[in-house]
Amino acid sequence: MTQIDARPSGTFAIGGDMTINRLGFGAMRITGPGIWGEPEDRPEALRVLKRLTEIGVNFIDTADSYGPFVSEELIAEALYPYDGLLVATKGALVRPGGEPNPWPIVGDPHYLRQAVRMSLRRLKVERIDLWQLHRIDPRVPQDEQFDVVKSFIDDGFIRHAGLSQVSVEQIEAARKVFPVATVQNLYNLGNRADEDVLDYCEANGIGFIPWYPLAAGSLARPGGLVDKLAKAKGVTPGQIAIAWLLKRSPVMLPTPGTSRVKHLDENVAAASITLSEDEFAELDAVSRA
Ligand SMILES: NC(=O)c1ccc[n+]([C@@H]2O[C@H](COP(=O)([O-])OP(=O)(O)OC[C@H]3O[C@@H](n4cnc5c(N)ncnc54)[C@H](OP(=O)(O)O)[C@@H]3O)[C@@H](O)[C@H]2O)c1
Repeated sequence: MTQIDARPSGTFAIGGDMTINRLGFGAMRITGPGIWGEPEDRPEALRVLKRLTEIGVNFIDTADSYGPFVSEELIAEALYPYDGLLVATKGALVRPGGEPNPWPIVGDPHYLRQAVRMSLRRLKVERIDLWQLHRIDPRVPQDEQFDVVKSFIDDGFIRHAGLSQVSVEQIEAARKVFPVATVQNLYNLGNRADEDVLDYCEANGIGFIPWYPLAAGSLARPGGLVDKLAKAKGVTPGQIAIAWLLKRSPVMLPTPGTSRVKHLDENVAAASITLSEDEFAELDAVSRA
């Protein structure tokens, strides 16, 4: 049986000085349906969070908009004072509710400053280890948003800063204003549109957090390459997706999310799955195509 331990995923130093195990946890799914409100099974969501520390997961990704606020609040309830844990959060999206469940971007510097201060309050910390600008607001000059992120570092509200869903040009523009510690973009075996962003992050020592990491698109369908490989190795397609991500780059920090302990254990066990060079190369070639 594969061990349930994040440590075999290896380590990465966020911002060069905060070392975490590369396989983390995404806390978007410990909220209600549509990432709105309380989770349907609140005790199980708390068990998932408490389980993290038993299985070597010491990197959690969340955002104020998950719930909204519910994810940060549950993390604080289950894990404060976060001994040995790095809790990363994000701001810049709001949740007005209703259908079709929009997530508008608000990059007004006053709003962002309130967002980071409210995350500090909900997480009950004096400084957030990693705060990420969830989206750049196209209606606000980019530099105004980068300047306010820099002010969070200067004012001691946050230790490191990151970006989400950005291009290489946007990362380069941000790096002129503050050190970019992480980038969080959609990336998985089924969607490799941001290969250039990943390569840029690897070349510059920036942590790359691939969101929706478990997806493998058509490769995971019965008879697809991921499905075949999973069956041959006696593991699940999701575990192959995580193992492939971990092997793809040393700056890759997958944070698969779940609301169930059973799924958490399965995802973390993927840290111990080894893909041969040939298996990796075949998955790489087919998923690039
Ligand atoms: N920056 C951004 O814009 C952005 C956007 C989206 C997400 N994120 C971050 O990335 C994290 C991961 O993304 P994600 O939640 O969209 O994708 P994901 O982790 O790839 O997939 C989560 C989904 O897969 C299910 N799942 C998880 N483990 C499973 C398993 N072992 N077996 C079967 N089903 C399983 C979950 O349902 P169950 O609860 O039933 O397990 C959930 O529906 C989020 O938590 C969040 O922190 C960031």
